[in-house]
Amino acid sequence: MKFYSRKLIKPENLNARNTLFGGALLRWIDEEAGIYAMTKLGTKNVVTKYISEIDFVSSAQQGDVIEIGLGFKKIGRTSICFSCEVRNVFTKDTIIKIENIVFVKVDQNGKPEPHGKSLNNLKLIRE
Ligand SMILES: CC(C)(COP(=O)(O)OP(=O)(O)OC[C@H]1O[C@@H](n2cnc3c(N)ncnc32)[C@H](O)[C@@H]1OP(=O)(O)O)[C@@H](O)C(=O)NCCC(=O)NCCS
Repeated sequence: MKFYSRKLIKPENLNARNTLFGGALLRWIDEEAGIYAMTKLGTKNVVTKYISEIDFVSSAQQGDVIEIGLGFKKIGRTSICFSCEVRNVFTKDTIIKIENIVFVKVDQNGKPEPHGKSLNNLKLIRE
């Protein structure tokens, strides 16, 4: 797994208990994973298809810095699948874990379209 973006937890990212709002975190993860899918598949025409069980392992507070990690899991005909872990940059405590996030390449009508990639022609995908 490689850790990409870092985020500073600010007041607008908090819930009623003044800890990190889960929805804010999921938005960041979806965006980060979408960018990863675009770069690996070489197209911006990807959509989020599936996000598996989400384990909110621990919380984060205002002022904490978190980092979003993504790992390649598998590639299909039209899809690509990643796992995700978000952790505190300094303590390395895990904040959230998601086993499977699937993106699908779509055509201009929004229908699944083969991305033409495989493990053989995607060396960088193992990063
Ligand atoms: C993405 C979308 C076009 C896929 O359509 P679909 O009819 O389910 O397509 P298919 O059944 O042909 O599946 C396409 C790929 O997704 C995979 N897939 C489908 N359902 C899946 C699921 N529940 N979990 C994991 N992968 C799944 C299939 O295995 C297939 O992968 P492959 O071609 O690599 O083998 C359609 O579901 C859609 O438009 N969804 C909305 C996407 C969107 O707007 N996302 C933004 C957030 S709302």
